[in-house]
Amino acid sequence: MSKSINLMLNGALVEAQCRPDTTVLEWLRGEAGLRGSKEGCAEGDCGACTILVSSNGPGTSRHYQPTNACIALMGQLESASLITVEGLSVLNGTDHPIQEHMAQNGSSQCGFCTPGIVSALAGLLHRNPGPGEQDVHDALAGNLCRCTGYRPIVEAALAAAKETQAQLPEPGALVAKPSVGTPGDCEFILPTRLEELIALKSAHPDAILLAGGTDSALDVAHARARWPKVIVTRHVGELQEIAERDDVLRIGGAVTWEQALPQIASNWPEFGTLIRRFGSVQIRSMGTLAGNLATASPIGDGAPSLIALEAQIEIAGPQGKRKLPLEDFFTGYRTSVLKADEVISAVEIPLPSPEQIFSVYKVSKRYDQDISTVCGAFRFTMAGDQISACRIAYGGMAATPYRCKSAEAIAIGSRVSPTLIKAVQKEISNTFQPLDDMRGSAAYRATVAPNLFERFCLELGGVKQEVMSL
Ligand SMILES: Cc1cc2nc3c(=O)[nH]c(=O)nc-3n(C[C@H](O)[C@H](O)[C@H](O)COP(=O)(O)OP(=O)(O)OC[C@H]3O[C@@H](n4cnc5c(N)ncnc54)[C@H](O)[C@@H]3O)c2cc1C
Ligand code: FES
Ligand code: FES
Repeated sequence: MSKSINLMLNGALVEAQCRPDTTVLEWLRGEAGLRGSKEGCAEGDCGACTILVSSNGPGTSRHYQPTNACIALMGQLESASLITVEGLSVLNGTDHPIQEHMAQNGSSQCGFCTPGIVSALAGLLHRNPGPGEQDVHDALAGNLCRCTGYRPIVEAALAAAKETQAQLPEPGALVAKPSVGTPGDCEFILPTRLEELIALKSAHPDAILLAGGTDSALDVAHARARWPKVIVTRHVGELQEIAERDDVLRIGGAVTWEQALPQIASNWPEFGTLIRRFGSVQIRSMGTLAGNLATASPIGDGAPSLIALEAQIEIAGPQGKRKLPLEDFFTGYRTSVLKADEVISAVEIPLPSPEQIFSVYKVSKRYDQDISTVCGAFRFTMAGDQISACRIAYGGMAATPYRCKSAEAIAIGSRVSPTLIKAVQKEISNTFQPLDDMRGSAAYRATVAPNLFERFCLELGGVKQEVMSL
């Protein structure tokens, strides 16, 4: 028997009758009859489909977050509250201030991108009523406009921010059903406890484990894959934990990048800067840290910093939990030690101490919304002016995210000096035979990676990380 999907749409309770692997955009424009949200790329890149979503999971923020409807699946959003561009004006009885100012300011030409931009900016004003210009640029990083140019859009956002805040309805308090859809055809199972999740994983080894879907849902959005059975992690209470205790920051296996950002940024500001360049706010509000690591991608942006910061990954399975250093998690190109019946339950990062200096540099073709060509993360622990411990980790340089232990060994016990920098750089160059792909040639990567180490050393005086977009 098919179980419908319950959600709040623009303030009203709705029971959607679609397959749970339908994209939210397809459902909105079809069954729901709301065609304001547009399909530009169908892969989370352009923002034309942006809507606002408040998840109703345990521990999740009840704030509305901009989300790419083209790669969010209906079964993921069971019990969530959605606001589309149509809802923004209806809810306020008149146009939302951002709609008014976009119209007055000539912030739209062909208009294809406009609903997504309006939704992204309404989301910004909702979570930050007094944004500065940089906040507006950050909020727009996931929205492409090809004909207006961003200046009038940014001006409209700043003007709208000066007005009384527009109202968005309180997110609904729906309780998620244990499953939605039709067993045998397309079923999404929504466990709420870790024990239940692991039992399901063991019982259904072929089921897809779905967190934010910003990697895996592209198969549905783009390749039109059909998914018979999916297990969703976002309602599992234990996986939503984010807490500092026993000298570590613990981030649960379903915590999104946006949820983790404030605590990461307050402990490691440079890691925070990197995360603000991770996809866009739409991607970060769905995508999880665990999902990023589970893909075992050599260019995933989470691993280099986490390895340099000595993070441990906690894996839960039928036999209980085990913890290992993150660098030991990756076994090869897109492979890891994770077994079919296991999940990542948490990542633990030791909290920083005053003698530690950390930085991370992401080099990508575009500043925002682009995965790294090379990412280098470095941490020195200083004893006076000597390096007593050193961690050097790279993404984009090998088949896996890689900790360069031989280069670390050269640095330990030395002072930072031009001689040391050269010796470490030479070792880094000798260690890697980097990949050659459309993001960058092997020669380019081989030049950039050691230079990032030099930059780290030159910035030890506390110079801030600057733009590294090429
Ligand atoms: C437009 C766009 C921009 C992007 N930009 C970046 C970027 O700048 N940097 C970057 O690194 N990545 C980027 N990504 C990739 C993606 O957003 C990240 O890898 C994200 O963190 C994946 O998390 P998720 O929760 O969406 O994973 P999902 O797609 O839900 O899952 C990915 C994989 O992880 C597994 N998984 C999820 N949770 C667990 C768990 N708890 N235990 C075990 N396995 C699990 C799933 O089964 C699946 O195999 C981008 C993607 C898009 C579409
Ligand atoms: S259609 Fe381009 S991000 Fe969704
Ligand atoms: S107004 Fe045409 S793409 Fe933005």
